[in-house]
Parts: sequence; C-alpha cells; structure tokens
Amino acid sequence: MRTILVANPKGGSGKTTLATNIAGWLAGKRQRVGLHDSDPQRSATQWLARRPALFPSIAGFRIDAGRKEMKEVGLEWLVVDSAAGLRGDALRDALRRADAVVVPVPASSFDMAATADFLAAVADSKPIREGSTLVGLVAMRVDARTRAAGELDAFLEAAAFPLVTHLRDTQVYVYCARDGLSVFDLPRSRGEQDWVQWRPLTRWLARLSR
Ligand SMILES: Nc1ncnc2c1ncn2[C@@H]1O[C@H](COP(=O)(O)OP(=O)(O)OP(=O)(O)O)[C@@H](O)[C@H]1O
Ligand SMILES: [Mg+2]
Repeated sequence: MRTILVANPKGGSGKTTLATNIAGWLAGKRQRVGLHDSDPQRSATQWLARRPALFPSIAGFRIDAGRKEMKEVGLEWLVVDSAAGLRGDALRDALRRADAVVVPVPASSFDMAATADFLAAVADSKPIREGSTLVGLVAMRVDARTRAAGELDAFLEAAAFPLVTHLRDTQVYVYCARDGLSVFDLPRSRGEQDWVQWRPLTRWLARLSR
C-alpha cells in the first residue's frame, strides 16, 4: 500500500480538494484506494458520503482508523487528508508513514509565510532527509492574471521541493466538492481543462507505482 499525505497546517489551503481529487483519479484508474480523513472537521468523509454510487468507489476511513485496519482491506493506495495545524509529533508520524507528501500552497503572501515554516519542518524530518519520501508542491487557486500568482511562483521556485503543478481558481472544484465528485469524474467537455493541469501531478504520483 502506498500512502499519499496531503498536508499544509494552514486552514483552507486546499488539502481536502487535493486529497479527494487524488483519490478520485486513482479510483478512476481502477485502483483500490482508501481515503483516510484525519481531520476532525470530517470534510473528506462528508464528500465521500455524497459520492454517487455509480462512480468508481473509494473506501473511507475515519480519523481513528488504525493502520492495521486500513492494510487489511488490501488497498493499493491510501490518501490521507490531514487537518489544519498539523505539526510536532503528529506531523512526524504522518511523514514517517507517507511515501509522498503533496503540499497545496494558495496564492496569498500570508499563506506563504506559514508554508515556509512548514516546509522547513518537513525538510528537517528524518524520512525526508533520508530521501525515502517524495515531497511536491501544488500552487492552488491560481489566477494567472494576478500579482499574487507571480509572487507565489517566485516563492515556490525558491523552495526546497519541486513545484509539481498549478491548479486554477475555478468553481469546478467547488461543485465537485458539493457533489462528491473529482474532476476526473466529469465529462471531457467539463473536465479537460483541469485534467491538463493535473497531468504533471498524476505523472509525479505514478512514480510511486514503479
Ligand atoms: N482550485 C480551486 N479553485 C476554487 N476553489 C477552490 C480550489 N481549491 C480549493 N477551493 C475551495 O477552497 C475552500 C478550501 O479548500 P479545502 O477545503 O480543500 O481546504 P483545506 O485545506 O482542506 O481546509 P481545512 O484546513 O479547513 O481542512 C473550499 O471551499 C474549496 O472548494
Ligand atoms: Mg480539509
């Protein structure tokens, strides 16, 4: 079982959006995937409860689910949606279990300061120093016309981890969240623009399956 942790201690940075869409992508590829909602706010659990039965299935795990329970199901992938404020021992444990960490970074300078501290803590952790865990950054809610988008790029290009992709600011994610869907569940006419933006990230994650 390969574990993908989605983390950024900043509230509202896009963790649940990334986690649910990564799970949706894997499910669409006919992979056995679980979504571990480790946030007491339960947004990922609620998304899964809204997911129409006809769409590729994703196994849901509550915050208190044990590693053993999740392994017994025979999953190929586990996507962990973490809570805001993840740091200290909880962060260390989550990093130790992860094969890859995806960090959403929204375009606002306030978020960048919090993210810089978080990335420093991640870089300093043992599994990352030893190179056994991949870390990738995703620029979130990007409106290419804005100054904030340029500032975000400058910040992310100077970071210690690769900038894997940019995801645009679009209501498509809001509608998908409401309906229990990922962008990969949409018809081509509605999803294609976002699939193109996701491709570098799905390629990057696919490295874990080799
Ligand atoms: N690319 C995007 N375009 C438009 N809206 C987005 C995008 N990404 C996320 N959102 C919206 O931003 C809000 C916050 O996103 P999300 O819930 O994924 O953040 P979070 O990091 O999980 O928050 P929390 O820390 O509270 O768990 C949600 O309403 C979500 O639908
Ligand atoms: Mg969330």
